[in-house]
Amino acid sequence: MKIAVIGTGYVGLVAGTCFAESGHEVTCIDVNPRKIQALRRGEVPIYEPGLEELVRRNAAAGRLHFTEELAGAVGPAQVVFIAVGTPEGETGRADLQYVLAAAEQVGRALRQYTVIVDKSTVPVGTADKVHEVIARHTRCEFDVVSNPEFLKEGAALEDFLKPDRVVIGTRSERARKLMAELYAPFVRTESPILFMDPCSAELTKYAANAMLATRISFMNDMAALCEKVGADVEQVRKGMGADKRIGYSFLHPGIGYGGSCFPKDVKALTATARDVGLEFDLLRAVENTNARQKRCLLTKALRHFGDLSERTFAVWGLAFKPKTDDMREAPSVELIEGLLGKGARVQCHDPVAVESARRYFGDRVLYAPTCYAAAEGADAIFLVTEWNEFRHPDLKRLKATMKSPTLFDGRNVIDPRLAREEGFTYFGIGRPSAS
Ligand code: NAD
Ligand code: UDX
Repeated sequence: MKIAVIGTGYVGLVAGTCFAESGHEVTCIDVNPRKIQALRRGEVPIYEPGLEELVRRNAAAGRLHFTEELAGAVGPAQVVFIAVGTPEGETGRADLQYVLAAAEQVGRALRQYTVIVDKSTVPVGTADKVHEVIARHTRCEFDVVSNPEFLKEGAALEDFLKPDRVVIGTRSERARKLMAELYAPFVRTESPILFMDPCSAELTKYAANAMLATRISFMNDMAALCEKVGADVEQVRKGMGADKRIGYSFLHPGIGYGGSCFPKDVKALTATARDVGLEFDLLRAVENTNARQKRCLLTKALRHFGDLSERTFAVWGLAFKPKTDDMREAPSVELIEGLLGKGARVQCHDPVAVESARRYFGDRVLYAPTCYAAAEGADAIFLVTEWNEFRHPDLKRLKATMKSPTLFDGRNVIDPRLAREEGFTYFGIGRPSAS
């Protein structure tokens, strides 16, 4: 099959590469010429484990192409994916300007019957809007399908190649057949394609992200309660997760969820409800808890140190989660801005996100080559992103070079007992030592 993918970001590049890997001829399109030039050289502009190798292999095999010319790629394609950004817009609604602009360009470029797939996360009713826009610019036959993406950054290839499920929203039998053929290599009995109407498919994506965000905020509220009553949220988490009806995933308390999806998708779903006269109070609470949680390490530091000015702090981890260089809505941003605002010096380290982080902090922080270098002379370490290399640090070595051995563990990855034994003052999230 010939496939065009519009938008070569985290989702478009992964989807395009995986379709090429399954034997299709894929052209990825982007308006950003630097991205396209880099990809043509075999350089992947984002950090995503395994992606560069797969891009190079498929490009070398002649199955994966990159271009800025949308019309030339869309014209011969049987399936066109729209995978452009849908950032937070006015009053929390998803901003559809990039999706609708892409739809207009697609309409002008169609040459034959084509299936146009909304891959971007878009609110209920967008498939109809995209249909309307395309119809204004073409006489060709076409169908618009909703096919939301559920991949996680840092595990994007694994998630795409072995999805829990593929959701396809369409009322067209012709489109359904084409989509079933396209996804056949990735689905198994236990991970089926779920066909449904486009509205339900669009809502499924928001519902899934909002549910996961709700679990996280619930645990962060439990952590706050644990601190007040002297319980350990890590014990509570294990006790809850062992119940098969609950399960262990997405129950980790921390310093709040970030990334390009949860924050904006929770807001957009709340806005969708409001637009039809419903108040989604639960999601407002989820957001409020998350906002508080992003401030919680700064609050703990102010309580412990009082004045932060003239103090030096190490921040371990800048990206919103491990195995990515994505800084969008990263909790590190609010923490570091808070520390700088209180007059503190910040020495940070992240294994891959330093280049992305420079766009946020410029020269206002020091970028250290290792987590040990970041901790030199520091009054405390803030562990923000749970990269594996931060899980078992040499505490003796750290203590020898720090000004005061204090650890604010924003992800509960260091054993508090061990830290205390090594002479550290330890603060976690929802652990007794924090109170
Ligand atoms: P991104 O910002 O990384 O990439 C979007 C790309 O689209 C950019 O490179 C931009 O230059 C390009 N673009 C915009 N308009 C264009 C046009 N008219 N023609 C060609 N290129 C154009 O975005 P992303 O993180 O890949 O997210 C894309 C969508 O997928 C969003 O709706 C997001 O909510 C959703 N999503 C993201 C993830 C994720 O983990 N990042 C997961 C699931 C779903
Ligand atoms: C999320 C969804 O998981 C994915 O299905 C969707 O397609 C895009 O949005 P992503 O944003 O890449 O993926 O990362 P995810 O692993 O879901 O983590 C999101 C945020 O929640 C991170 O900041 C992470 O640190 C936080 N988180 C996650 C917790 O605080 N606790 C947890 O238990 C899990």
